[in-house]
Amino acid sequence: MTAKIKATDRMCDILTGDYMLVLMLGRFGISLGFGEKTVQEVCQEAGVDTNTFLAVANFNIAGADGAAPYTDKISVRTLISYLENTHTYFLDFLLPQIRRKLLAAIDTVAGGKVAYLILRFFDDYQNELRKHMASENNRTFPYVRELLEGRLPQGYSIEVYSRGHAAVERKLGELKNIIIKYYKGGNDAHQLLSALADIFFCESDLHQHEQMEDHLFVPAVQRLEEKVLAGQAEPEQQGPSSREETLSEREKDIVRCIVRGMTNKEVAEELFISVNTVLTHRKNIARKLSIHSVAGLTIYAIAGGLVSLDEVHLS
Ligand SMILES: [Fe+2]
Ligand SMILES: [Fe+2]
Repeated sequence: MTAKIKATDRMCDILTGDYMLVLMLGRFGISLGFGEKTVQEVCQEAGVDTNTFLAVANFNIAGADGAAPYTDKISVRTLISYLENTHTYFLDFLLPQIRRKLLAAIDTVAGGKVAYLILRFFDDYQNELRKHMASENNRTFPYVRELLEGRLPQGYSIEVYSRGHAAVERKLGELKNIIIKYYKGGNDAHQLLSALADIFFCESDLHQHEQMEDHLFVPAVQRLEEKVLAGQAEPEQQGPSSREETLSEREKDIVRCIVRGMTNKEVAEELFISVNTVLTHRKNIARKLSIHSVAGLTIYAIAGGLVSLDEVHLS
């Protein structure tokens, strides 16, 4: 099966096709403003594992089949961080926003018992969701982090998690129906309908989140458990910084020249070496840093203090 979104696609192109992918960026900790860069370049610069990004992006638009080419290559550590950020988005942003809109729209005096019950139903649901996500944050993910370190904690497994993993969005469907069928009136029709639209969105986003846990996260952790049991697990890298090799002084000189906007020939003349040697250094730099663009090198050079901002050539 061919994936719809590939590492070489321009990030801006994939986002304009699906707004869900825009939300996904925040959950991966990727900022906007990436110009013409490819998915791979943006991920590398943000320190996000590209295969995990592609698995999640393709899952979002085409389900488990769409993600299939990347599922074996998922970084479990990156996926956990994505899921944790998604929990934070629901609990600290989306649900409080829906509650504020409901409060503003629902007239608890004129709306009588139904209005009161709607708010209570919502609060109970919020608490239930908080418990569900707290259990994943505090029990499941720490268990998986132990696995990533090559240890197999006793008394818990991904099978236990998977068996008890309940659908959390169903109650939102009920709430939606209660409001549509039984609530009359309110202070502000636009506000109420906007809250209702947010509930629709939250329901489908939560469903997607659960599907991802069941069909991306669980299988990835099962593979990890098998490796740890077989004693083959290699501790997963913490992030790009731990994968980076140090640049030699000569390679740093090359980086300084490149980010000042010099061509290979100019670099060769400046450093009294051949163009071929410059090219070899550039290849080694790209391999060591996993950075393949001048823009990426520029960020690396500024962040690492190799050059100052006013020295770089911004095209
Ligand atoms: Fe979750
Ligand atoms: Fe869950």
